[in-house]
Amino acid sequence: MKKAMDADVVVMGLGYIGLPTAGLIASKGIRVHGTDVNPSVVETINKGEIHIVEPDLEGLVSYVVKNGFLKADRKPVKADVFLIAVPTPLKGGHRPDISYIESAVTSLAPYLKKGDLVIIESTSPVGTTEKVAEDIYSLRPELKGEITLAYCPERVLPGKILYELEQNDRVIGGLTEEAGEKARDFYSRFVKGNLHVTNARTAEMCKLVENAYRDVNIAFANELSIICDHMGINVWELINLANKHPRVNILKPGPGVGGHCIAVDPWFIVNSVPDTARLIRTAREVNDAKPEYVAANVIKKAARFKDPTIACFGLSYKADIDDLRESPALEIVERLAKHRAGRILVVEPHLKALPDRLKALPKVELSTIDESLKEADIVVILVDHRAFRNIDRMLLREKLLIDTRGL
Ligand SMILES: NC(=O)c1ccc[n+]([C@@H]2O[C@H](COP(=O)([O-])OP(=O)(O)OC[C@H]3O[C@@H](n4cnc5c(N)ncnc54)[C@H](O)[C@@H]3O)[C@@H](O)[C@H]2O)c1
Repeated sequence: MKKAMDADVVVMGLGYIGLPTAGLIASKGIRVHGTDVNPSVVETINKGEIHIVEPDLEGLVSYVVKNGFLKADRKPVKADVFLIAVPTPLKGGHRPDISYIESAVTSLAPYLKKGDLVIIESTSPVGTTEKVAEDIYSLRPELKGEITLAYCPERVLPGKILYELEQNDRVIGGLTEEAGEKARDFYSRFVKGNLHVTNARTAEMCKLVENAYRDVNIAFANELSIICDHMGINVWELINLANKHPRVNILKPGPGVGGHCIAVDPWFIVNSVPDTARLIRTAREVNDAKPEYVAANVIKKAARFKDPTIACFGLSYKADIDDLRESPALEIVERLAKHRAGRILVVEPHLKALPDRLKALPKVELSTIDESLKEADIVVILVDHRAFRNIDRMLLREKLLIDTRGL
């Protein structure tokens, strides 16, 4: 018998993935209890507000909180399904850090009961679901064989999360066949995309492979852009022409690869099979080296001026979001500032203040498009935000332009 304070679903971690997921599930009339270790996240959500930038999310969260379908707290409650969406960053030596999953599991274990389903959505190294099962059974041995576990990776695009949460196909990896089927039933309550059930290890690897595939292809484009610089060839024109071939589709180069996924997940594979994943490792190294290359290029050009003002357009890791994690643009601005390449005007319409990493550095200011175009000698396009697409080209006429995005 359920108590009034119990929930149907507990979502552990209310960030970019957990909060939209909790909101979507709650919008189907399912009682969701969101758990986050950050008290200010809990407080914000319980006011019906959000702490991240994502289109339409605030309206959804406000609606489900007001109607009593979503509640946030620092601790879990009893429920039928426990969904884990906590961070899985890298630690030293490019090794996956699954300590957030481990501590989420420690805090949810006391609330588990016979028949519950535990789902990991955090991107995880192969074998994590098996390890989580062992951790739970070591804390609650009486539950062995009495609960089910599954892995279901998230592959949404920030900026379109609510649409993609509902519409994307999902890969579901059950630790047992029963777990896979139970997880399929659960997702069918709010996902319209197809649900593909497999085992947990394949589902874990599937997420990693999707991002490694993207990383390798981006590395090809990034390496090509450097080769073209050396050979005096316009890489954008070259790619456009090469892509006229019916079976060639070269991606766009950029200032590097950022974000919490593509820049991180391929290392999970490399870490598991370091001697075999040679191409995947090299792609990571090529992409990781690109910000340094871009910064060196700007520094070289800035040396032509006496006291140059450098406008850096964009700080986030990709267009139209505020997420700075692993952002190559942020690394480039930091390198320019540390090198004292000039006065740096950062134009980032999605931020109200400079991030701490830049605040401490000399001669770096947050600026606007208009202000920076008035004052800059050099304009470096680091992110292709929509807000930058309509810049009047006439205003760039007198500037030295370095466009890493082909805007
Ligand atoms: N952001 C994306 O676009 C994206 C896409 C696909 C997959 N993922 C994966 O999803 C997972 C979550 O990523 P995110 O972007 O939502 O991270 P995030 O940092 O935005 O949110 C994670 C939240 O978990 C909370 N948290 C940490 N430890 C906790 C614990 N023990 N119990 C409860 N809450 C805890 C944090 O306070 C934070 O609010 C990661 O594994 C990530 O790789 C993210």
